[in-house]
Amino acid sequence: MNSPINVVILAAGLGTRMKSKRAKVLHRVGGLTLVEHVVNAAAGITPPEHITVVVGSQAEQVQAALAHTGVRFVEQTEQKGTGHALMMCRDALAPQGGLVVVTYGDGPLLSRATLQELVDRQAGVDRAATLITTRLEDPTGYGRIILGKDGEVQAIVEQKAATPQQLSIPLINSGIYCFRADLLWKHIAEIGTDNPAREYYLTDIVEILSRAGHKVAALEVPDSEELLGINTRAELASVDKIFRERKVRELMLEGVTIEKPETVTIDCAVRIGADSIVGPFAQILGPSDIGEDCRIGACSIVENSKLADRVHIAPFTSIADSKVDADAHIGPFARLRAGNRVGAGAHIGNFVELKNTQFGAGAKANHLAYLGDAEIGDKTNIGAGTITCNYDGVKKHRTRIGKAAFIGSNSTLVAPLEIGDSSYIGAGSVITDPVPAEALGLGRSRQVVKGGWASKQKRKK
Ligand code: UD1
Ligand code: CA
Repeated sequence: MNSPINVVILAAGLGTRMKSKRAKVLHRVGGLTLVEHVVNAAAGITPPEHITVVVGSQAEQVQAALAHTGVRFVEQTEQKGTGHALMMCRDALAPQGGLVVVTYGDGPLLSRATLQELVDRQAGVDRAATLITTRLEDPTGYGRIILGKDGEVQAIVEQKAATPQQLSIPLINSGIYCFRADLLWKHIAEIGTDNPAREYYLTDIVEILSRAGHKVAALEVPDSEELLGINTRAELASVDKIFRERKVRELMLEGVTIEKPETVTIDCAVRIGADSIVGPFAQILGPSDIGEDCRIGACSIVENSKLADRVHIAPFTSIADSKVDADAHIGPFARLRAGNRVGAGAHIGNFVELKNTQFGAGAKANHLAYLGDAEIGDKTNIGAGTITCNYDGVKKHRTRIGKAAFIGSNSTLVAPLEIGDSSYIGAGSVITDPVPAEALGLGRSRQVVKGGWASKQKRKK
């Protein structure tokens, strides 16, 4: 069977119940936007499909968030309901036939497996559609599934339009459907706005199809968690918690030790090698990649960074957009801002800040330093209080320090500047001119000692 499968994700609503300036589908759980999670699930089904996302509220931002996924977009300029949103796709999709899978951009927990099962149930059968349902202890807010005597779905009744008896039905509409394209597009225009919200409810299509003599089946899934839709910030937080718990469980099963797992925040895209240890309250964010036998200390934050094997990050350290080679030791209380490369076995200690700096293998900056726009050679030692003056108020300049150099404490290195291999800088120097290899650079006033000065002062009084 070669009929195409088109997936449509409805993501045009603002999400009034979020009380946010940002469109609901752009809010994040597990480190990704809600709509990215849905696209990921849809992208996993077979055979290969086209994914169309209906955008409207903050269309540009939603398109930007999904640009990397290669999905197509259709615009719904006015948000007149889920039925209306799907109508926007008719011209593009009706000629293709096949199957149309519809899902909502606010249900990020949906798995590929469940979506695939839905498609497999509907593929090659006569009936008009199959939809996913589950039983909820508290179904408040969801549409309810009305079953006929034969177990087929007769209608979906929205919360606002339901009778007290219908409200007691525990079977809910997940908002995930698979339609025969020919019947969907033939009947979609029959959806009206005769309901309390005056919206085109996609859910009405079920009753329309069933009255026209077509069958709609329900696929009941036992794990209702993956069908949770997000409408409020409270639901956003509880779904985020589910993603965090899943991620730490998955990592622990893969051989990562996580201390106090309920306190750590690890994004979905993070990878961590076996025998690494993550301390309490650590956050590992973005697409970070941590090697084996690493240690991420308590309360440290690692974002969009790559750490090789056996890297030790001591507590309260912040690392963003950086690369760290094997056996390096960083922190406690260190800050690696953007664009750093730390060499193998290097040491970076407390209150050291690096920005856009190449820090050589085995080099050390153990305390209190700022190294910005710098290259530090292998095995060079940076004394406490060393500052690269990389900014003259207008432009940034680079500092290049060679290998095995020794920069004395409290040195002020005024960039642009070159300091050669195996050279020395005397403590307390302000260095403005190049220092060649093997040389000693001094840039400080001489000490003066006045003998007996204190007692002379006292006699004057
Ligand atoms: C919807 C279903 C309900 C189901 C629930 C599952 C309808 C009428 N109701 O209710 O039966 O139990 O989802 O979570 O479908 N959207 C648009 N354009 C619009 C309106 C909405 O693209 O004009 C998008 C939204 O961005 C959102 C999705 O459709 O991603 C669902 O809309 P929402 O308002 O959250 O529907 P619910 O009230 O939750
Ligand atoms: Ca919803």
